[in-house]
Amino acid sequence: MDHFTYKQGVLHAEDVPLTEIAAQVGTPFYVYSTATLLRHYRLFDEALDGMDHLVCYAMKAASNQAILKTLGDAGAGMDVVSGGEYARAKAAGVPGERIVFSGVGKTEAEIRAALEGGIRQFNVESEPEMDVLNRVALELGTKAPITVRVNPDVDARTHAKIATGKSENKFGIPIARAREVYAIASRMEGIEVVGIDVHIGSQLTELEPFEQAYQKVAELTETLRADGHDIRRLDLGGGLGIPYTRANSAPPLPVEYGALIKRTLGHLGCEIEIEPGRLIAGNAGLMVAAVVYVKSGEGRDFLILDAAMNDLIRPAMYDAHHDIVPVQEPAAGIEQRAFDIVGPVCETGDTFARQRMMPPVPPGSLVAFRSAGAYGAVMSSEYNTRPLIPEVLVKDDQFAVIRARPTIDEIINRDSVPSWL
Ligand code: LLP
Repeated sequence: MDHFTYKQGVLHAEDVPLTEIAAQVGTPFYVYSTATLLRHYRLFDEALDGMDHLVCYAMKAASNQAILKTLGDAGAGMDVVSGGEYARAKAAGVPGERIVFSGVGKTEAEIRAALEGGIRQFNVESEPEMDVLNRVALELGTKAPITVRVNPDVDARTHAKIATGKSENKFGIPIARAREVYAIASRMEGIEVVGIDVHIGSQLTELEPFEQAYQKVAELTETLRADGHDIRRLDLGGGLGIPYTRANSAPPLPVEYGALIKRTLGHLGCEIEIEPGRLIAGNAGLMVAAVVYVKSGEGRDFLILDAAMNDLIRPAMYDAHHDIVPVQEPAAGIEQRAFDIVGPVCETGDTFARQRMMPPVPPGSLVAFRSAGAYGAVMSSEYNTRPLIPEVLVKDDQFAVIRARPTIDEIINRDSVPSWL
């Protein structure tokens, strides 16, 4: 569910007409709904009701300070994967004890910064990383709280580029080696084992792969406890998918996911952490663009937008589908035509949709890409010297620009020309 609906014939974000935002900030832009962000966070929080738990928003999905502050103020923790994300979470006021640090390549500098600034736990992904953690913690005279991310060798049945839980993926430690790695960890003076971590992939549309992974985690918890480790926290990762089309079947709901967690792991009495990103931010954001030209080609027609693959890379990168709807509500029963919907960037990959049925959208009219709140703005670039597009946050009938569009001069002035030129 989201808070983007037509009112008086115009698509609104909560109570703000998108036409009003477009008039003020220009197109293209991203717009987020505060109510949707909070609703999705609370759905997860409530789904784990009755268990000691923390929802750590995977901020890689959308990491604007205003979004982090919205969620952080509501009580969310954060899952970070770089020193930059750690700093952003802290800058948004999230305390270290609510931040978990994931990622396969944490550098020594990143580890040091997190240990100094305060951290709930590191999700360790390799033995060499654990060595560095141990050494840095000892240098700082502290202990690094850790879970080991185990790779359960489970097929998440999602797009190959976002599946992470198979043995051939770069993530985690093979679950078969876990006992050995925990034994090594327990002998390290700078390491404090607090639990187990698992994350098998993103945009999962069924519960079964989670169930397989969580059962393996439950067994491992008992084994490690029998070995004498104090496993008191389970980080179950993120990955619950969202409906990208209104038409197709809906993925499981957070409440069903929560019930699965209780069923598979509830008896262990552990504190539960989850790291949802997409489900919190995805349907809380739209990308709004304007039609520049309607072009008739050989046997097909093109809608050429002022947004491009550099603004929303998901269709080009993962063949992802985003619903694209006109901002002016089309009259009921109006005739639709098939278009290829493209951006102005000079490559054929700059195609958002092929043969998509659309009502008439003349040049100058606005269209909205649904489900663009997660992995949209954060993955954008300035390819073709197209400025990063602004981000706007709506709350009820108010809106604010939360990241401004840079000017072309600002972009040019970021470069420096060496003295010999
Ligand atoms: N935790 C870890 C350790 C992760 O690697 C990820 C996502 C998450 C949590 C959050 O997963 P989510 O709940 O958002 O599915 N750019 C891709 C998605 C990459 C996901 C990477 N890891 C896309 O646009 O589909």
